[in-house]
Amino acid sequence: MHIHVLTLFPDMIMQTVNTSVLGRAIEAGIFRVDAVDIRDFAFNKHHKVDDYPYGGGAGLLMQAEPIYLAYESVAKEIAKPRVIYTTPQGKRFDQKMAAEFAKEEDLVILCGHYEGVDERVIEEIVTDQVSIGDYVLTGGELPALIMIDAIARLIPGVLHNDESADTETFENDLLEYPQYTRPEVWHGKKVPEVLLSGHHENVDKWRFEQSVKRTQKNRPDLFERFLSGK
Ligand code: 6GU
Repeated sequence: MHIHVLTLFPDMIMQTVNTSVLGRAIEAGIFRVDAVDIRDFAFNKHHKVDDYPYGGGAGLLMQAEPIYLAYESVAKEIAKPRVIYTTPQGKRFDQKMAAEFAKEEDLVILCGHYEGVDERVIEEIVTDQVSIGDYVLTGGELPALIMIDAIARLIPGVLHNDESADTETFENDLLEYPQYTRPEVWHGKKVPEVLLSGHHENVDKWRFEQSVKRTQKNRPDLFERFLSGK
């Protein structure tokens, strides 16, 4: 997979993807991320990429043309790429969407900024408008990085064997159960007895019950889905 990120802050993207698990996978040639600086496609004196909204109102908008030219610079080599635009107005990103995007050979992600982007360039190039949750961020780079992380870990070879590509949380509508490692007692707290018993059936049963309890408490929305089995 090759991910092309259209952004005003290419360093923010590249520094993060080149770190930790993703950095290792990129180094190993398993997938690729390139940041395209939208400002490089603003052919005016100060490389200005924003302007006031028609009709008035607070804030500035990203102009259509630099974004379009940045898009064309990557799209000329790819047939009809999927283009994700990060925006709080988008569809909520989830594990299912990550799995869908992970099937693509190329992905373009457009990071929004300021108060938004001229609607016409969205109509012209964007295939998917995506939000990462119900809160407002200063820009689309963190959302893009979150999506890249969630997508990349589903690509075969990105995770090593001991970093299980577990997506069960969210796939069966239950949250993960509590986990423990050594020592057996820490700050006077003992690891639940069942986990030391070696009785796999009982361990599975305990974990399932814990998952159900935790989901009911923390995510009533998921719990409803789990109960109704959809
Ligand atoms: Cl994708 N962008 C911004 N600016 N804020 C957000 C978001 C995206 N998703 C949630 N909040």
